Amino acid sequence: MTTHKIALLGGDGIGQEVTPEARKVLEVVGRATGASFEFEAALIGGAAIDATGEPLPASTLRLCEQSDAILFGAVGGPKWDALPQEQKPERGLLGLRKELDLFANLRPAKCFPMLLDASPLKREVVEGTDIMVIRELTGGLYFGEPRGREEFADGGARAVNTMAYTSREVERVARAAFDVAMKRKKRLASVDKANVLVVSQLWREVVTRVGKDYPQVALEHVLVDNCAMALVHKPTHFDTIVTENTFGDILSDEAAILAGSMGMLPSASIGGRVGLYEPVHGTAPDIAGQGVANPIAAILSAAMLLRYSLSLGADADRIDSAVIRVLEQGHRTRDVHAAGTTLVGTKEMGDLISAEVEKSYS
Ligand code: IPM
Ligand code: MG
Repeated sequence: MTTHKIALLGGDGIGQEVTPEARKVLEVVGRATGASFEFEAALIGGAAIDATGEPLPASTLRLCEQSDAILFGAVGGPKWDALPQEQKPERGLLGLRKELDLFANLRPAKCFPMLLDASPLKREVVEGTDIMVIRELTGGLYFGEPRGREEFADGGARAVNTMAYTSREVERVARAAFDVAMKRKKRLASVDKANVLVVSQLWREVVTRVGKDYPQVALEHVLVDNCAMALVHKPTHFDTIVTENTFGDILSDEAAILAGSMGMLPSASIGGRVGLYEPVHGTAPDIAGQGVANPIAAILSAAMLLRYSLSLGADADRIDSAVIRVLEQGHRTRDVHAAGTTLVGTKEMGDLISAEVEKSYS
């Protein structure tokens, strides 16, 4: 029997609270199927800075490289905000993405029917929304050179980041996106700013070329400003979206809130040998340590881990359905709590979902 080695990187804030719930659910899957999971925890982000002085200790990177997948919580917090850019907790996550070559970030934004009223948009606008945003994760403005800052003698300064892509970088994420679109409704929107940016013109050219290999997929090119508007105007227009790193960072938050709460949405970062799975939400310092955070995004991230890193899609489906059943039964964490539903905490939500997953096997 193969043992699946999972690196557990809870990180900071509510990352420490939701990751154990995701692990709990994977352990249920292990017990029910005989699959063997071996979990090993490591420090990342602010917690790692406090203990070792670095946001991504070498031992953490090594553990990740030797694992089959990474279950990640969240990093950052006010405590470390004053640190220089290169030493911030966020660097730990960015470093992992780069070191492990996780160039494709899959962020589903799906509206759960029972949570439609939690969405800031009108029910009739969001109903039926089911979008997969594929964000390029290791290039663009986040990593482009030159980058840096120069101080002028007169007290002024100049700072620069570079949005750069090679055709190879665009091509590999485009292929990942077309592959995902093939398994969905075969509609792909490639988002760029080709009316202004030369880097976007290359992006559009390469995506169009890759599209020739996927004649069944309807490809459209959407300008990023227009996409931002269309996402709140008519989100059901979109099926699969592919875009560069910064545009994807922004648009995926926008898409996420359509679903009512960031606490519901998982993500997968893939491309390299080891995939990284993390909730889209951050560390939520305002509610950290209170046991009230929504663990669903983390639990659905564990489902994505089974699907994309371990080829255990049927077990992932069981987790997805268990989450829906628990929500249908009326259980809600604080972020999506509404009149007529039962308020539960982080652990209780994790237990309820674990119990439903377990039942699904009997
Ligand atoms: C995200 C986050 C990160 C990013 C931060 C924490 C570095 O906003 O995963 O979307 O900007 O990529
Ligand atoms: Mg973001």
